Amino acid sequence: MIKNILITGGAGYIGSHISEVLIKNRKKIFIADNLSTGHKRLINKKAKFFKVDILKNKKIRDIIVKNKIDSVIHLAANLIISEGEKNPKKYFRNNVLGTKSLLKACENTGVKNFVFSSTAAVYKDGQYKVHEKSVIKPKSFYGKTKIKAEKIIKRFCKRNKINYCILRYFNIAGSSPSGKIGLINKSDHLFKNFSREIIKKRPILKIYGDNYNTKDGSCIRDFIHVYDIAEIHYKVLEKINKLKNSITLNCGYNKGISVLEVAKAFKKQTLKMVKILVLKRRKGDLVKIIASNNKLKKFIKWKPKFNNLNLIVKSCINWEKRH
Ligand SMILES: NC(=O)c1ccc[n+]([C@@H]2O[C@H](COP(=O)([O-])OP(=O)(O)OC[C@H]3O[C@@H](n4cnc5c(N)ncnc54)[C@H](O)[C@@H]3O)[C@@H](O)[C@H]2O)c1
Repeated sequence: MIKNILITGGAGYIGSHISEVLIKNRKKIFIADNLSTGHKRLINKKAKFFKVDILKNKKIRDIIVKNKIDSVIHLAANLIISEGEKNPKKYFRNNVLGTKSLLKACENTGVKNFVFSSTAAVYKDGQYKVHEKSVIKPKSFYGKTKIKAEKIIKRFCKRNKINYCILRYFNIAGSSPSGKIGLINKSDHLFKNFSREIIKKRPILKIYGDNYNTKDGSCIRDFIHVYDIAEIHYKVLEKINKLKNSITLNCGYNKGISVLEVAKAFKKQTLKMVKILVLKRRKGDLVKIIASNNKLKKFIKWKPKFNNLNLIVKSCINWEKRH
């Protein structure tokens, strides 16, 4: 049975939601985070927190051994695409060497399961609907570091008889129904930007490009609610542990939503005059990408709970108002 779980990056946006779900399911949670982009206020009170960098191999190993960690969920990473292009060394060090160092800390310990946060950014552009065997060819340096980390994890886990699960998240949005946690960082996140605007007096929702070859000219994404993502972690962890199996899974709703549709959903939530401002296309934006999620559905008999754009939008606005 899974008891003690170490979450790297557990003070971040997704990690805090995963902690909440796992604690609800009576797991003991240990968080290793250097707080570089994480926040103390997102750390669950029932979790044990260690302020530590994943590159500190000995310290992490100590935490694993002393707390009898049986499973690791590895989220700690840098993830801003534009920053990765400007500073590839930082991204290589944190995302690739950091993963290597963490794995080394797990060697010959009680760790039996390893779950890794990967991304849709590993896939080749222009494939529209991608399944796990679609062509891998990351456009961004960030995507390159993630696929490199995936390979290192697979090799290491096979050699050390650890079950692994690689989860390739699509676009994550929303906040927990508990109202206690949500997205704080002001990185380039569509739902975050729109939520911040919509609570202003005269909101302006900026979209980049309305002349793409899509249904309404704006880019198309597969947005998935962060709470559904968190529950996927709980379920896949139980499953790989039970089956003693390893797997790679796309995490999305298999549904394309355009950026313009998101803007309109935000507009619907207020009586204020909202301006939708169309700007030039941004370099590097994928036109459309959607997850084929059949493998995920089959593996954990997954039924998403928040597969509804208005629900996601409302949860973002609620969080922004509280925050
Ligand atoms: N947010 C998304 O839409 C999205 C999509 C695909 C994949 N992901 C992946 O999900 C994971 C979590 O993303 P998030 O959105 O929660 O970001 P986040 O920045 O909120 O969380 C990352 C956490 O990792 C910590 N961290 C970073 N480097 C560390 C290090 N060397 N040692 C210890 N802690 C470190 C940060 O302090 C932060 O708390 C990342 O691996 C990211 O690549 C996110």
